[in-house]
Amino acid sequence: DRPKPLTGRKAIVTSGPTHEPIDPVRYIANRSSGRQGHAIAAALAALGADVTLVSGPVSIPDPFGVRVIHVERADQMRDAVLAALPADVAVMVAAVADWRVASAADQKIKKHPGESIPTLALTENPDILKTVGHHTMRPKLVIGFAAETQDVESNAKAKLDRKGADIIVANDVSPATGIMGGVRNRVRIVSHSGIEQWPDLAKEEVATRLAAMVAERLKQ
Ligand code: C5P
Repeated sequence: DRPKPLTGRKAIVTSGPTHEPIDPVRYIANRSSGRQGHAIAAALAALGADVTLVSGPVSIPDPFGVRVIHVERADQMRDAVLAALPADVAVMVAAVADWRVASAADQKIKKHPGESIPTLALTENPDILKTVGHHTMRPKLVIGFAAETQDVESNAKAKLDRKGADIIVANDVSPATGIMGGVRNRVRIVSHSGIEQWPDLAKEEVATRLAAMVAERLKQ
């Protein structure tokens, strides 16, 4: 057997949405299925990498050959990612909620007839990609995703520097594309050396190509 290209390399992948509690029974979330992140974790493992997948709540199974840490909230995801450092590559695919409820209620918020409707005060969540991209233990290769509904390319370029990422995988998640929660993806690979448009592919195929790109970049 020839050695696999990522044998001896450590990878951290985030995947899925986060659930930010409102009270013990309610939460804020998004439409992420975890399919793309899980496929990337599996593809890196298939090339021999030692993969830690930090996953938000998803309904798909744990990928084969990968260490999976299940979390709910963004702060838990950040803690799990930082605990998994150092690594050679980080691929932050999770659709982390940008905001959480500032003070989630300890008990279920009750509906009382005639009383005013509650309002939710939000506060910013930690940016996990940005934290990893600027960390003293920054992986050699840091890859982020950019789910946008407009100005996909310019938003992705701006994100490279702001987040301290080497590559931003940009996709248009406008409802008409069916990408968010779907099985296919159409991405652009944005890096300081330019932009590469990939065709419409199954998320597994996007993952295979991305893993090959990771192996290529880590070889240099
Ligand atoms: O800024 P925006 O949310 O569009 O950036 C998307 C990228 O940043 C994704 O790679 C996502 O996983 C990551 N991210 C993160 N923590 C956040 C928000 C986004 O890791 N709080």
